[in-house]
Amino acid sequence: MDTTIEMVRAREILDSRGDPTVAVDVFLSGGAIGTAMVPSGASTGKHEAVELRDGDPRRYRGKGVRNAVGNVDDVMAPELIGEDASDQSAIDSLLRELDGTPDKSKLGANAILGVSLACARAAANAVGLPLYRYLGGPLARTLPVPLMNILNGGKHATDSADMQEYMIVPLGLPTFSEAVRAGSEVFHELKAELHERGMGTGVGDEGGFAPSGLKSNVQPIELMVRAIERAGYRAGEDIAIALDPASSEFHENGTYKLARDGKVLTAEELGALYAEWHLKFPLVSVEDGLAEDDWAGWKTLTHQLGDRLQLVGDDLFVTNVERIRRGVSEGVGNAVLIKLNQIGTLSETIEAVDLAHRSGYAAVISHRSGETEDTTIADLCVALNTGQIKTGSLSRSERVAKYNRLMEIELELGDAARYPGRDAFPRFRRGQPSQGAPPPSTPG
Ligand code: PGA
Ligand code: ZN
Repeated sequence: MDTTIEMVRAREILDSRGDPTVAVDVFLSGGAIGTAMVPSGASTGKHEAVELRDGDPRRYRGKGVRNAVGNVDDVMAPELIGEDASDQSAIDSLLRELDGTPDKSKLGANAILGVSLACARAAANAVGLPLYRYLGGPLARTLPVPLMNILNGGKHATDSADMQEYMIVPLGLPTFSEAVRAGSEVFHELKAELHERGMGTGVGDEGGFAPSGLKSNVQPIELMVRAIERAGYRAGEDIAIALDPASSEFHENGTYKLARDGKVLTAEELGALYAEWHLKFPLVSVEDGLAEDDWAGWKTLTHQLGDRLQLVGDDLFVTNVERIRRGVSEGVGNAVLIKLNQIGTLSETIEAVDLAHRSGYAAVISHRSGETEDTTIADLCVALNTGQIKTGSLSRSERVAKYNRLMEIELELGDAARYPGRDAFPRFRRGQPSQGAPPPSTPG
């Protein structure tokens, strides 16, 4: 079928927080259409590609995206007409050239990503393939283990924990669909547990509970272990725990301020806290345990815990190959969070996943706290064989849309489907870390 681009047009739509974002439709000569909707973060990293907002206080409190929409319609569309939507790397190179800045600040990463993804969708539709198969080829068959954020804090809630995400990881379940069932059951038991304790059961930005009246930043973990047990699962065997403290958000003047604990910690002390939690709880992964530019702290943390814990860089790496390369060469972290709008094109996202994998780092494909009904990341996990996805809680349709899509893919794959379970976390080990040599000093 003809995959020549005939028309590209963008629209301003709403995301899950009720803020505007960009949607793009791409029309091909053969009749196929591709649509993409772009997500938006709240605890965004300093080094992310730029999300273009109008800044006009009379519309959407300054958050309108009419300029980004205009950049698609007036700048990108005329250049794209006649191009081949199935030549993804050529499309993405053209988009980068049109922008011309290193951080996509001219046309906006939100505008560019919308076009990049809509082209991929249109091309997949044109050849009649589901997106995971179009991008991943005939061998794509691995479903991801979900990191399910059932308790929201930080910037995704008000008056909850200082740390942003408390996740359950159903790594002992046999299939993706069973993992979703377990997640849902634990989610509901957590609700019951919170209700019985007189704590709120309202949810935060990613659909996890956002209780007020938490005694500490560790209490959510205790509550989740309780919920896992109430649901009839074994903590650690069936379901593990993951955290995204998003610590850049409470990093102040070189220290880490945990208001709920009444503590101000150094990087070493915060690392010691994670080590203590790792001993006490079945903690499998910690994301942004330290701040986005605390390379020295990260290096020490990785040296101490990196052999037993997945240490994920989100704000640290921002899906950027240059920052991932630096991390690899300095022995910082052992996993990369992959967010498409942090970098702005599908090709660069895939390059980041490839680099992570070639470097022995895990890649965790992720949603943003501001999401839409777009399910591209679900297909992408299967296509790129990442083995892990982070897409929120077991409530709110913009979150469960991704789980529902993955269950659909699992069904479609039938006997070929594979759920990696514990294999997705090769470093996961309980117990005391070995006391190795001090970390090597940073070169240069
Ligand atoms: P964000 O949060 O989308 O608000 O940046 C997600 C995350 O930190 O992982
Ligand atoms: Zn994060």
